[in-house]
Parts: sequence; structure tokens; C-alpha cells
Amino acid sequence: MTTALATDKTKPATAPQNQEFLADVLSGLALQQKQLAPKYFYDERGSQLFDDICALDEYYPYHVELDLLPKVAAELSHFFHTEQAGDLSVVEFGAGSLRKITPLLKRINTVKNLTAIDISQEHLLNSCAELRHQFKHLDVTAKVHDFTQPLSLDKTGLTRMGFFPGSTIGNFDRIQALDFLRSAGQTLGNGAYLLIGVDTKKPNDILHHAYNDAQGVTAQFNKNILTRINRELEGNFELQHFAHHAFYNPDQGRIEMHLRSLREQHVRVADHEFYFAKNESIHTENSYKYHAAEFTDLAQKAHWYTRQVWMAPNDLFAISLLQHQPSNASNNDC
Ligand code: AVI
Repeated sequence: MTTALATDKTKPATAPQNQEFLADVLSGLALQQKQLAPKYFYDERGSQLFDDICALDEYYPYHVELDLLPKVAAELSHFFHTEQAGDLSVVEFGAGSLRKITPLLKRINTVKNLTAIDISQEHLLNSCAELRHQFKHLDVTAKVHDFTQPLSLDKTGLTRMGFFPGSTIGNFDRIQALDFLRSAGQTLGNGAYLLIGVDTKKPNDILHHAYNDAQGVTAQFNKNILTRINRELEGNFELQHFAHHAFYNPDQGRIEMHLRSLREQHVRVADHEFYFAKNESIHTENSYKYHAAEFTDLAQKAHWYTRQVWMAPNDLFAISLLQHQPSNASNNDC
């Protein structure tokens, strides 16, 4: 239920950058299953909390992928040599802190340039400056852009490889994941490669602890979206009356994160009021997990063909090398 309250005409209009955020929050909270888009986790505090999550032992996707990358990089170097791929131009999607590119740059000496794409300008420019300092020979370009949308890149004549680590693709539903893969295909072009990190299905207890850490960092990350709404959209969420709730949904093959209302309450956002029944939740994030074969099938629907898959010990995480070949397209896209 949403109720419009009388608007105070003396108040300044919402800043333009917040208008989309406001519209998304109002429409999300008006749904029967209330929801908020996970992209809104990442204000400055949220990005810091995500970095803190990555430092936790329980959050295996970060350190398991990082541990696997040196082996992947060494084998990729050999692979590209065998393919006679020549010099490489790497494009990192959602580059953020650019921490995972380092093992590749240290081991694949044919990488001549890097285009780092991210929506957050300040973070991106700082990370690119650090990388230029560390890898003097590397031509680094920062593109402030929504990485889910296609981008027109300068022609370099080099072999292109996209890089999308962290299983961020897991935060997209099936349609969004296909859209991203198609868009990446458009950005990178025919014959390009894509190295992508994908989290795997695994025993529930490992998944459970990764999203319900003992220190409660993931809970703070989840609740921070309410703090952000309070600050940026004149909300009045009382955080102590919401609880972090994360669980594996085996039917959907995904972790779901929710914020559960601990009591019956009304909450205001801008000039709208929302009713919460006790135990009603806001669905804030999905994190899909894939068997290797499921991901291969998904990628193929977007005309990305799997060349190689590296599995971490105990199959905890997968890194796939895909190649884009639209001419071999089958007709059963969805
Ligand atoms: C960014 N993304 C891949 C993380 C995940 O595992 O889905 C975000 C996250 N949510 C809770 N913990 C980490």
C-alpha cells in the first residue's frame, strides 16, 4: 500500500541524480513483494562494506577466485600463444578497484592496453592511476559508463578480451544475464574472448555462512540501503526494526537477501508512506549460482562459446573463457 501525503511546496525538488533512485524505490516498495535494486547498495559506505565482506573468510567467492587467477593467467598466456592471438586489448566490466586484473597483467605480457568500465567515476580514476603507476608499459583508459549497456570502443586491431570477475553476473536474473552477455558481445566484437567468474552451486552451509557472516558485515551491507534511502530520499526507516535475512532458494538456484520487518510499521520515503506487516520483507538481492554446464548453456544462447573452464578446489568457483561467434548462432534465443 502506498499513500501520497500532502507535498510541501516550499521544499526543494529532489536532485536530478536522485530522481531515478526515488522512482525505483517508490515503485519497488509499492510491489506486493517489496523490492529494492541491488545496484543501490553501492554508495561510498556500501562499497566500503562490500570490500569488508571480501575480506571475510566466510565470503569464499572473493578469495577463492583470487587464488585461482594466477593459474588461469599462466595457462591463458600459453593459450593465446597457441591461438596466435598476438597482442591483447583487455576490457574490464564493472572495474571498481581493479584488484583482480593484476594477476593477469603480471603473467600475460601480450596485454598492451586496458579499458576499465565503471559507473563510479572517482573510484575508477583512482584505480586506473594506481594501475598506470604499477604497469608503466600499459595503456590504461577509464570509461565512466553503465557496463550493462554496449559501448563503442576505439579500434586497436588487437585481439580483445573482456574480463568480468567476481560472479557479478550472479546478481542478474536469467534475462538480465543474457542481456549483459549480448551487450558485451556487441562491445567486444566477433571473435573476442570473455573471461568471466561464476559462482557455483554447492552445499547449503557454505552458501549460508557466506551471506550470514558471524561479524554481521553482510547484514550491515544489506541494511545500508535503508540508511541511504533515509539520507538521500528523506526516508524514515528505523534500522533496528528490520533484520537481515539471507537464504538459499534451491528452486531458483540463488541466494536471496531480504530485509524483514520485525514489527508492523509505517515508513515514509519522500512524501509517500508504506505499510509493513510484521515479518513482511523487502527483497534486496539475488545471487544466482550455476553448475558449469548450466552456465555454458546460458552463454551459448548469447553466442558465447566456452573454450575452457577452470574450477577452484572443491568446485567452489569457476572461471570460464568464452569466445564470441555470432555466425554460429542457433535460433533458440530467449
Ligand atoms: C557483488 N556480488 C557478486 C556479491 C554476491 O555475492 O552476490 C554481492 C554480495 N551480497 C552479499 N554479499 C556479497
